[in-house]
Amino acid sequence: MKQFLLVSDLDYTLVGDDQAMARLNQQLEQHREQYKTKIVYSTGRSLFLYKKLTDEKALLEPDVLICAVGTEIYYSSSNTLDSKWSDHLSEGWDRDLIVEISKAFPELKPQPESEQRPFKVSYFNEKEISEKCLSDLDSGLLEKGLDIQIICSFGSSTHINNLGNNYENGKDVEIQVLDILPRKANKGMAMTFVRENLEIDIEQTVACGDSGNDIALFADKKEKGIIVGNAKQELLKWHEANPNPNRYLAKAQFAAGIEEGLQHFGFLEK
Ligand code: GLC
Ligand code: MG
Repeated sequence: MKQFLLVSDLDYTLVGDDQAMARLNQQLEQHREQYKTKIVYSTGRSLFLYKKLTDEKALLEPDVLICAVGTEIYYSSSNTLDSKWSDHLSEGWDRDLIVEISKAFPELKPQPESEQRPFKVSYFNEKEISEKCLSDLDSGLLEKGLDIQIICSFGSSTHINNLGNNYENGKDVEIQVLDILPRKANKGMAMTFVRENLEIDIEQTVACGDSGNDIALFADKKEKGIIVGNAKQELLKWHEANPNPNRYLAKAQFAAGIEEGLQHFGFLEK
């Protein structure tokens, strides 16, 4: 056994089965003490919603916290923002212009204020946004010289209603979530930045996820990857179309899927 770097998404990846998470956390905590293993969370949530989650769930304190889909990096409990990363993202980014252009697409419903971040503009869309609308939005933004990327994920309305929305009168339906980010930031690029800062080898790094915004953790990456058994269609489809021997699709769900993957790669003992 030796040191590794775990970069994990939270909602529906590490978080989803409290018992399995408690079991995994115990092993990770021990590994961190013994081998200086590093634990990094990479979530779509803002710091505000991350803190809400820590009130609800027994999470370990991470060594580094990546929020808002790779656009904000915080160091442990100090809540210090990595300004080197933010400075890097501010070049060529014009948030107000993105908001303005997006207004031409009435199907896009802005997410709550807490999730509108300096380098992230986020919307909900109740029905799957058509390919045409998505490409019109993309080209509308690019035409103005904006160096952006659009990331689509799906979320359950239950989770989204926890953010103060009211979708589908209590029925649990899938809702599309859309994040517009600088081209220079996503979960994958933030992972590389953090891995290099921590000076941990690619071979000793493993990323875990379940949905669309996690694809960047796995795309063209030499880091190892674990997709949990409950992963969403958008990630599974992408995984099938882009095979990579460094990526493991777990049978088990949530934290049990992470545990299964860590054992598969030999990071944890069976
Ligand atoms: C989280 C964030 C939301 C984002 C979604 C997908 O749920 O709170 O703003 O759109 O992740 O990245
Ligand atoms: Mg997730």
